[in-house]
Order: sequence, then C-alpha cells, then structure tokens
Amino acid sequence: MIERMRRAGAAAAEVLAIGAAVIAPGVTTDEIDAVVHQAYIDRGGYPSTLNYRGYPKSLCTSVNEVICHGIPDDRQLQDGDIVNLDVTIWLDGVHGDTNATYCVGNVDDASKRLIDVTRQCLDRGIAAVAPGRPFSDIGRAIETHAVANGYEVVRAFVGHGIGEQFHTDLQIPHYYEPRMTTIMEPGMVFTIEPMISMGTGQHKIWDDDWTAVTADGSRTAQFEHTIVVTDTAMEILTTAN
Ligand code: MF3
Ligand code: CO
Ligand code: CO
Repeated sequence: MIERMRRAGAAAAEVLAIGAAVIAPGVTTDEIDAVVHQAYIDRGGYPSTLNYRGYPKSLCTSVNEVICHGIPDDRQLQDGDIVNLDVTIWLDGVHGDTNATYCVGNVDDASKRLIDVTRQCLDRGIAAVAPGRPFSDIGRAIETHAVANGYEVVRAFVGHGIGEQFHTDLQIPHYYEPRMTTIMEPGMVFTIEPMISMGTGQHKIWDDDWTAVTADGSRTAQFEHTIVVTDTAMEILTTAN
C-alpha cells in the first residue's frame, strides 16, 4: 500500500509541475485543466476529482480570493494574479493529492509574502508529524505561525486521511483544536493543506456549490502534501523521485 502511495504521490507531484509550467498571463484555467488531464492519463492514472461528488473538472484552480475548489473555466489568468493548482491522481488504486500557489507575472509584495508564509505553515505542520504525537500538534504549529504573521487560518476546510479513498473520516484541522486527541501512528497516511487568508478566515460558497471564497474578498494561499507517518517521523509522499 505505501509503495503504491509513493508512486501515486510522485506522479501527483509531476503532474502539478507540468500544470504549473503552463501558468502565464492570458492562459485560461480550462487550458491548464486540459494539460493536467492529459498528464494524469500519460502516467496511467485518472483525475480523482472528475465527477467526484459532481465536481466537473480534473483539477481545482483557485485564483486570488478563492480559497479552494475553484473550477477551471474560460477566464484568462491576469498579470498580478495568484493561482493555486490542486491536483489529485488515482493510480494503482490509490490517490495522491498535492497543491501549490503560484504567481502570474508580476505580483505585489503583500501577496508574495502571503505565499511564502503559507508554504512555511505547511512546512511547520509537517514538522509536527511524528508517531506518538496528537493530531492537534499539526494545527497548533500552523495557526501559531499564521497568526504571528498577521494572517488567519481558514477553518472550514481541513486535511484528510487518504489512500484507496480520496477522503477518509480522519480530519486534520489547520488550527489548534484541543479535542483532536487522536495519536499519530506509523503507517497513517493523510494530507496537510493549510489555507491562509490575508484578511478573514471566514468563507462563502458561490452558486456553483463548489467555489469557496473569503467572506471579505481577501487573497488566500494554500499548499498541500500527502504524508505518511513513519517509525521515527514522517515521509512526504507527494515529491518527485
Ligand atoms: N484536492 C482537494 C483536496 O485537497 C479536493 C478537491 S475535491 C473537488 O482535498 F471535488 F473539489 F475537486
Ligand atoms: Co486534500
Ligand atoms: Co488537494
């Protein structure tokens, strides 16, 4: 199972890099969706999101104030936008889930700082993974860093157990939740995927029933990896190798 998760994770990382290489002013998110769709197929995989609970596309493209689950469409990316690509591949019967936020052309310094701090939040969450520790340590590490930098954590969307199922019952908040007393054990596989807002962490959902945006229109960023707990610490599965 872990060997299959490693392969799916590495493939997801490759597909994310292929999608990211297409990002430029004037490119539509539908065009990125088409490139990413073909990249899953080329690796013998299938897009986990396509028709997942009715979701219509092969990846999520979340621009500026979109927190997550943005649906690719015919809007062209504009100079100064920030865009998150969230790819999930189903390969050999398991899912690999990873995302990252990118700059389109020249982006203002405040947005660049948001992206940097959000990546650091993911790194700090990952550093809190070790057998014997409670899951609440992950969210505590993330929230502490976000708040210290003047940002808010989006609370409505959480990391999740993953494997033969895209989303299992295991939920990993990205804020400090003292009731999250479950202990991490070797072999557990889950995502950490903090969404960090420059303004409020409160959200609204568009009429398409998917697109989540910040309630005040602030920009948000997100980074995600799929992780396995090892005997001593953890291994990141969604890296190319
Ligand atoms: N990849 C997303 C996650 O990190 C889930 C997307 S589900 C979709 O959990 F239906 F919106 F695509
Ligand atoms: Co995920
Ligand atoms: Co994802």
